[in-house]
Amino acid sequence: MTMKQGKVDALLGIVFGDEGKGKVVDYFTPRYDVVARFAGGPNAGHTIIFEGKKFVLRSIPSGIFDEGKVNIIGNGCVIAPDLFMAEAQELETAGYTLTNRLHISRRAHLILPTHRVLDRAYEAAKGKNKVGTTGKGIGPTYSDKAARVGLRVGDILENFEEKYQTLKARHEQILRDLHFTDYDIADEEKKWLEGIEYMKKFPLTDTEFEINRALEQGKNVLAEGAQGSLLDIDHGTYPYVSSSSTTAGGVCTGLGVAPNRIGRIFGIFKAYSTRVGGGPFVVELFDETGDTIRHIGNEYGAVTGRNRRCGWLDLVALKYAIMINGVTDLVMMKSDVLDDFETIKVCTAYTKDGVTVTDMPYDTEGWQPVWEDVPGWHTPLSELRNEKDFPKKFADYIAYIERATGTPISIVSVSPDREATIIR
Ligand code: IMP
Repeated sequence: MTMKQGKVDALLGIVFGDEGKGKVVDYFTPRYDVVARFAGGPNAGHTIIFEGKKFVLRSIPSGIFDEGKVNIIGNGCVIAPDLFMAEAQELETAGYTLTNRLHISRRAHLILPTHRVLDRAYEAAKGKNKVGTTGKGIGPTYSDKAARVGLRVGDILENFEEKYQTLKARHEQILRDLHFTDYDIADEEKKWLEGIEYMKKFPLTDTEFEINRALEQGKNVLAEGAQGSLLDIDHGTYPYVSSSSTTAGGVCTGLGVAPNRIGRIFGIFKAYSTRVGGGPFVVELFDETGDTIRHIGNEYGAVTGRNRRCGWLDLVALKYAIMINGVTDLVMMKSDVLDDFETIKVCTAYTKDGVTVTDMPYDTEGWQPVWEDVPGWHTPLSELRNEKDFPKKFADYIAYIERATGTPISIVSVSPDREATIIR
């Protein structure tokens, strides 16, 4: 008899990121043997409140708080050695031992200090059409990966200095061509090189083999998404996107697992919408209601501190993301933020120049939302721990979304507390 193979379940933000993945991964971790990041890098900020302390994880998977788990930074990720070192040392100072439990793919790409300068230079050159990046060098690093000139984690182990100088010189030439010469990376570079040495403490491995062997042994893997589906390089609101594959397909390429190894896909969204950075955002509210949602929902960026743009729930976006990812279960976060609204609006279609669509359009610029009113529940949700106590109108809101998307909402979060994650 052959042993039952394990599965990779994915936990994905399915809108514009910031859905509260950190909290959910933390809740899910006990069920998995391995937690792996498959895309993105320090542009992410997964906030976890653990034993009364708040941590913002950028590159390190959220399974790190659980001593028994293996955590993997997969090949689809990009990693900044200096920021990684700061993040890891903060956890070490808090008493966590990381070195045996955190494995880094040799195929993951390194973010150089000059990638971050390039990020700024490219943004500056864009004028008013800025992407509004996090400034962490994400785009330039993935560009070098695609251009086949990038440095990988495995490069640290051999002739590194020479490879580093070659790529740095290439970047400096581009910066001169862009007339972007007013930068000084001396201090940053020193820390970065320290970070390179620090990374050598960790197993720098071929993580695709580790993951597949774990699956063969019947172990289960949680793929922890970063950003959101509408920031995906292929399926997002291009060019206002991040540069990685944030969707379910990215789990396969970013970890080296085959599609038939994927089990459930949990799609996380908030009971309303937010976006940080530039780009179209059809459901954006420019009025007091938007400010109220921002204020109650504390919608300020975990990495950059920027105000997040706020709006009502967007079913066009949600249905599109469910389709692209094959979402099996929806996870609705921050429902309590809408407690005080008499009426809640939901966007059911987009309209422009007399044309109305329900399929996500190729170019989301210039579309207006078509709203449908849904009655608010006007009851505080945050103390509730059981579905049977949900106010009728909140249960109706859940049922409305399930009907519209054809997908069950399996988990509902009603406050930042760990216990306020209600399984249905
Ligand atoms: P980049 O990933 O820094 O290149 O930024 C590209 C776009 O993605 C910008 O609009 C960012 O604001 C957005 N973005 C990147 N990471 C996150 C995230 O973790 N949450 C929300 N938005 C993000």
